[in-house]
Amino acid sequence: MKVLSGIQPTGRPHWGNYFGAIQQYIQLQQSEQAFYFIANLHALTTIRDKVLLHQYTRDAALDLLALGLDPNHAVLFVQSDVPELSQLCWLLMSGTPFGLLERCVAYKDKKAKGLTATAGLFTYPVLQAADILAFDSDTVPVGEDQVQHIEVCRDIAASWNAQFGEVFTLPAPKILKETSKVPGTDGEKMSKSYGNTIELFDDAKAMRKKVMRIATDSRPMEDPKDPAGDHLFDLYKLFATSQQLADMEAVYRRGNFGYGEVKKALADAADAFFDVPRQRRAELEAHPERLREILGDGAQKARAKAGQTLRRAQESCGIL
Ligand code: ADP
Ligand code: TRP
Repeated sequence: MKVLSGIQPTGRPHWGNYFGAIQQYIQLQQSEQAFYFIANLHALTTIRDKVLLHQYTRDAALDLLALGLDPNHAVLFVQSDVPELSQLCWLLMSGTPFGLLERCVAYKDKKAKGLTATAGLFTYPVLQAADILAFDSDTVPVGEDQVQHIEVCRDIAASWNAQFGEVFTLPAPKILKETSKVPGTDGEKMSKSYGNTIELFDDAKAMRKKVMRIATDSRPMEDPKDPAGDHLFDLYKLFATSQQLADMEAVYRRGNFGYGEVKKALADAADAFFDVPRQRRAELEAHPERLREILGDGAQKARAKAGQTLRRAQESCGIL
């Protein structure tokens, strides 16, 4: 399996980002080949603040390493350190139909939210296709919302192969179905844009405070309750062992409990879960030279691989 995925450095990661996407990166890092990167060129389409973009890029790398990404197994790099990706993007752009990009929901959503419809925002999926194709990736672990972009990538690759010969590998998305829609504190999908997030690297106190604010219904305490579809229970499920979950399910069905107890159990479980990553992150942060070394080494490996694919693509269309 040849795995690749990217994460945009657009803010502090939350539980949804971890359980919907990052968790899979870590699980798949022992594959035959695994490349992960910080998509700072993609983020430039939305973040127009020099200091913030730089800081978020560094933070995203720290987050991934703290959560268990191991540079001895997977290559970690920053997108802009690999100029071959932008070069390949232009080649792909030359054959990408306008209509294919016009149909992309992510673009339409961002425009509807008031972002200026720049050429970068519109052609975002072509750069994403270059990221994927440059590494001959066959498996792209992502959240549900990225599936359309992987389909666009397949279309672009198939059309190139039909015109110029078998240059690119067609990738497939890999989704974690059970955690594809982690609820936020209001019960809607957890998302930065809804202001309902719980961040991965909040300190224990701040995290507990957000957990305590999770919205619940006002049915009487004594009533038995069905855990299915209850977003507080769904959040607990992310962290609890099967025994803890079975016990909590019994409490729900019995009734006579307060949601405060469930929240406390959730906060305790989440706290234990993020304890080691929090410590690892603090250690890494204290050694910026180590991070520079990891990203420098990653960029070198990524350039070597992407360079080969770029040359293949250039030769196939008469550019070299
Ligand atoms: P946000 O919606 O907070 O801006 P992003 O769009 O940056 O998050 O998402 C980054 C990755 O995390 C994507 O792969 C996305 O599918 C995944 N993701 C984001 N929110 C959730 C969620 N609530 N549940 C599951 N996965 C999520
Ligand atoms: N668009 C992805 C997101 O917002 C980030 C990304 C950029 C990506 N290039 C990629 C994901 C290549 C997978 C493969 O989450």
